[in-house]
Amino acid sequence: MSSFNLRIACVMVGLPARGKTYISQKVCRYLTWLGIKTKVFNVGNYRRKLHGASLPHTFFDPHNSVGEQHRKEAAAAALEDMLGWFDNEQGIVAIYDATNSTYQRRKWLHEKLTKQDILVLFIESICQDESLILNNIKDVKLSSPDYVNMDPDAAAVDFRARIDHYQELYQTITEEDFTYIKLINVGSQVIINMIQGYLESRIIYYLMNLHIAPRKIYFSRHGESMYNLHGQIGGDSELSPRGKLYATKLPALIRENLGDQSLTVWTSTMKRTIQTGELLPYPKLTWKALDELDAGVCDGMTYEEIEEKYPEDFANRDEDKFNYRYRGGESYRDVVLRLEPVIMALERHENILIIGHQAILRCVYAYFMNYSHEELPYIKIPLHTVIELTPKAYGCEEKRFKVDIEAVDTHRAKPAKIIHPAPSKSQLPLNKGEKLSLKLPAGASGEIVKEALSPILPISPKLHPRGVAVK
Ligand code: ATP
Ligand code: F6P
Repeated sequence: MSSFNLRIACVMVGLPARGKTYISQKVCRYLTWLGIKTKVFNVGNYRRKLHGASLPHTFFDPHNSVGEQHRKEAAAAALEDMLGWFDNEQGIVAIYDATNSTYQRRKWLHEKLTKQDILVLFIESICQDESLILNNIKDVKLSSPDYVNMDPDAAAVDFRARIDHYQELYQTITEEDFTYIKLINVGSQVIINMIQGYLESRIIYYLMNLHIAPRKIYFSRHGESMYNLHGQIGGDSELSPRGKLYATKLPALIRENLGDQSLTVWTSTMKRTIQTGELLPYPKLTWKALDELDAGVCDGMTYEEIEEKYPEDFANRDEDKFNYRYRGGESYRDVVLRLEPVIMALERHENILIIGHQAILRCVYAYFMNYSHEELPYIKIPLHTVIELTPKAYGCEEKRFKVDIEAVDTHRAKPAKIIHPAPSKSQLPLNKGEKLSLKLPAGASGEIVKEALSPILPISPKLHPRGVAVK
């Protein structure tokens, strides 16, 4: 028997207001988007539930033994729930969000977790930039449930005193045998130690791409295309006359909102997105990864034609649109995986405008706005509309600008009733003595494919429920 660990606990480390919750939520959103079951366990929430919110800074004073006991209880309750979640809900990555700022606390967590065959990745955020810390306090701490109805100046003084209490005992990670990443001053310096395995290295790479400089992310579908006008999917058609008009209006709209700030425009390699961006006076980049979801044998058809020619496929897609893979083409799940490098690059960059396609923008939008895989394929991204996202502390603010040029509506809602056609002879159970003959077109599937995690987790031996593989 060999031990194969598919469960990771990311344990946050750092003084208050160092972005631990921010980082926890980003990592959770990223992994969930990729289809990896992830959950954040925030010890502060347990502390508030067990011992009430609105506790003064003295609660966090290391010389306050009652406070210390209560904080230990909150930490233990969060850990217990986390272990239960790994076991009962087959979680893959848990994020334990607390200060964990002493050797003793980290040793305790490390022992408890490794005993259950859970890999531990410590993520420490160190920040010495006083103005950034002050900004973080103003940005999120004064509106925290800990300071409801409190005068903001008094709340800021209390929070400062809380930081000082933690500072008194704070021990930065130096444990040589622990796996860790230290992010210093928002990643301007990064120290990593003992990273093992693919998923850990993905998380590390993601963390190294994060920044918190203010910026805007714009999404626009290409202008209406000739295929859109005729109700056809896929293809590489030209813009319609109304689509061309939209392309002429786009530069003024962007400039009005962005002023003279710099911007980079990303398009797919398809004519309709390139034409839509043509008049924009900014640097441009074309990405193959931004090309529309490949509809395989259905490329160029209308939904009605698909329903008529491939009724079973049509019903399967309605049944589970995220996982349905077109014959010889892609599923939304496939698209999410191919967009991963785009997400990494988006995290690294500042102002970006993506001129994309309906399915592609749904995937990217779902990442930023935290939509589930079930909701994702039905997100409304209408034509001739610019979506502006402004990343904030724990999410994004959204504005939509509709350009006054008519366009067809390409959104197809999930039907209330999904009708599967009667099975053809080849799909009926075999009669006694009858032989099975299978004829599959090469590379085609046309079915619901759920095991597409392989690019993320390349090795997937049969797992024992506790994560121990049996050879
Ligand atoms: P607490 O221990 O009180 O829960 P925290 O460390 O979890 O605090 P957050 O609540 O995450 O702090 O703070 C959010 C703020 O931190 C956001 O405004 C975000 O821009 C900022 N931030 C994000 N990443 C970092 C970082 N690496 N260093 C410092 N600040 C960051
Ligand atoms: O002070 C910040 C905080 O996030 C509290 O909300 C929470 O109770 C505490 O840190 C958890 O960390 P520790 O394990 O050090 O008590």
